[in-house]
Amino acid sequence: MSQLFQTKSLDSLVRGTEEPGHQLKRTLGAVQLTALGVGAIIGAGIFSTVGTAAAGGGAHLGAGPAVALSFVLTAIACGFAALCYAEFAAMVPLAGSAYTYAYATLGELVAWIIGWDLILEYAIGNVAVAVSWSGYFQELLRGLGIAWPAWLGMDFRTAIQASHQVQAAQAAHVDVATLGPVVAHAYQAFLAAPRIAGLPIIFDLPAFSIVAFITWILVRGIRESAWLNASMVALKLLVIGFFVVVGAMYVKPANWTPFAPNGFAGISNAAAIIFFAYIGFDAVSTAAEEAKNPQRDMPIAMIASLIICTIIYIVVAVVLTGLLNYKFLDTAEPLATAFSGIGMNWAAGVVSLGAVFATTSVLVVFQMGQPRIFFSMGRDGLLPPWSAKVHPKYRTPYITTILTGVFVALFASISNINEVVELTNIGTLFAFVLVSIGIVVLRRTNPDQPRPFRTPFVPVVPLLSVVMCGYLMFELPLITWIRFVLWLAIGLVIYYLYGIHHSTLRAENSKRVDASA
Ligand code: ALA
Repeated sequence: MSQLFQTKSLDSLVRGTEEPGHQLKRTLGAVQLTALGVGAIIGAGIFSTVGTAAAGGGAHLGAGPAVALSFVLTAIACGFAALCYAEFAAMVPLAGSAYTYAYATLGELVAWIIGWDLILEYAIGNVAVAVSWSGYFQELLRGLGIAWPAWLGMDFRTAIQASHQVQAAQAAHVDVATLGPVVAHAYQAFLAAPRIAGLPIIFDLPAFSIVAFITWILVRGIRESAWLNASMVALKLLVIGFFVVVGAMYVKPANWTPFAPNGFAGISNAAAIIFFAYIGFDAVSTAAEEAKNPQRDMPIAMIASLIICTIIYIVVAVVLTGLLNYKFLDTAEPLATAFSGIGMNWAAGVVSLGAVFATTSVLVVFQMGQPRIFFSMGRDGLLPPWSAKVHPKYRTPYITTILTGVFVALFASISNINEVVELTNIGTLFAFVLVSIGIVVLRRTNPDQPRPFRTPFVPVVPLLSVVMCGYLMFELPLITWIRFVLWLAIGLVIYYLYGIHHSTLRAENSKRVDASA
């Protein structure tokens, strides 16, 4: 039992990174790391989920124009969590992020749980982003007059659901046109799909292809990907600037009333969804072993990118809800809808192009982060040794990069974005909670460890982070909780079948016990 809560000393964690064949190349400075943060943060959240957050949908109440306040609420929660992440990232500048921090503070079992949980944030999160990428990409093609086959551009279930809706409407003698253009498009996919043994073949080819392409780039090395990321970030900031400046000229203040149609319940419900838009500042920490000066630059990059994005989000939310009544924003591409809704199709096209760049850069950072977490877990023996292998020529964790690529590409081609976003949010919030608890624990167990960055007002700030992130978790629906608990249960089974028997920490400990005997 005590072995389960055995922690890894910080020194041995750092030593593990210095072994030959296990070293990553250090090329990133503060600006590149901040760009990596902004690259990870601004994406599907502000380009897609903000619409559902404002208008409501499914089990969620909408915040209305008060979605700007939802962004403030979530930013405060993330701010507290970021202050905790920053202390860890400066103190344990290793590739595994929250997984590594947990190993140093809360023990192997919690480390495994958090590592497994981070798959929800990185890999599953990227499934959602790839689906959003594909939506905007198809929107762009349409704008250019290129007809992309509907059956090659969505998930199977959406098309089947549309066919049921159409059949129900026909049975009730309701005009199918009233179901709206989104259902009509999905029904068209159902009708046009080729069939094998009667089963319609429907999948999201663009989502699959973009993940495959990014995986190929990442296997070849981080220097190229940092360059690619910087250009994407610059482009997406330009397009967001365009949205704000052009949009501000067409704002109708009447759209801001009622400001909060569902009161505080709507604001906090929306906060739990748009939390997705903030995920990513923590992803900076997975590049710690590729940073030139991680102690100084990690905290700067995380906090700077969070502040930059918060300001951008609030301004975008204010302009968005001023452009078009919030009730019409529940589409997959609300920023484009806001323009096309007032007849500015050219501006909607520019925004769609920006969204493609924005989501591409998110994909790059997360496809890069996930393999590095697997890599750390492999190095610690919790995953098979091949997962910690570095490519002889490119010095990247190529096996886990390819594995992540295959997993994300396959799921992106068959998944529904809304469900995936909620699962990602609950998993990430849980990781934030554990990291914040870790800060308090480590201040007690390891008070003298050098801390280049100290979280202010410990334990108040970490506890506020726990309370606020926990609150957002409880705003998510029951079905998301059930999926989350199932996911953690599968992880525990794998740990007891594999990790517990192969952990390098356990092997070292039992050697030590034998020696002293
Ligand atoms: N924050 C990232 C996004 O919005 C995950 O796409």
